[in-house]
Amino acid sequence: MPKMIAVHSYKGGTGKSILATNLAYIYASYGKKVLLVDMDFRAPTLVVAFEFPKVKKYFNNYLNGECDLEDTFYDASHLVKHTGGELKVALADPSTEAIREMLIKTRKWEMDALRRLFAMKDRLFDELGYDYCIIDTSPGIHYSSINAIVVSDLALVVITLDDSDMDGTRRMIKELYNIFERKSMIVINKVVGPEAGPGSEKKKLVETMQRMFMEPIVGVLPCVCELTKYRRSRIFAHHYPRHPFTKAIKEIAAKIE
Ligand SMILES: Nc1ncnc2c1ncn2[C@@H]1O[C@H](COP(=O)(O)OP(=O)(O)OP(=O)(O)O)[C@@H](O)[C@H]1O
Ligand SMILES: [Mg+2]
Repeated sequence: MPKMIAVHSYKGGTGKSILATNLAYIYASYGKKVLLVDMDFRAPTLVVAFEFPKVKKYFNNYLNGECDLEDTFYDASHLVKHTGGELKVALADPSTEAIREMLIKTRKWEMDALRRLFAMKDRLFDELGYDYCIIDTSPGIHYSSINAIVVSDLALVVITLDDSDMDGTRRMIKELYNIFERKSMIVINKVVGPEAGPGSEKKKLVETMQRMFMEPIVGVLPCVCELTKYRRSRIFAHHYPRHPFTKAIKEIAAKIE
């Protein structure tokens, strides 16, 4: 059972942050202890989704060696109260200064950061009793995303049915994930029409994609207009527990387990 899961994609805007957030929420709502980490240092998102009132330490600070791991955790367990679950969130610093700083980190810094990520993994699962850690990443082959993939047990790759995305993704899996021998599973997002429905079209789509990527397809998520409409719908599964999109993410959660 993978405990640390990096949510990644080749292109931007495929739905990584939405999937990472809702997957973390769903596991927590099943009574699990979950940490969600924003490692998209170039375009931090979770800070908007959760709106914690006073953030003092970001995950950047932990990777810089400026604070303890747990100083970066913010508690969102109120979202899953009465389930016995726990949802903690570590945020990426959204300030322009921090984004700029992360873009010019040296190779040496990135290697230290990877060491800190492995230390985090040991602490989370061996000492703090976490069940899952879900990492949201930047698209493409940025160093921080590669680090997230290297430390994780599973890379969950989000694609859309856009051609250039699929070609790029195929190359990325072949050239990058295989080097690190990282297991990957694919989620197809923003699917419209019958291919997203319960019928045979969806089965056909999954079979075609499976042949193309040679990796398991663990989910087909429908395109949902409401997702772009509301800020709060970032934690969509919380607000719309019976929606087909939420059900599709629950299926992914079950398949990963
Ligand atoms: N299934 C969907 N249906 C409709 N809109 C969606 C769906 N999934 C994601 N979106 C929308 O697409 C946009 C990108 O989603 P999201 O931020 O999760 O992608 P991302 O891969 O994290 O992007 P980035 O690469 O910039 O970090 C958002 O506006 C989101 O609301
Ligand atoms: Mg994102």
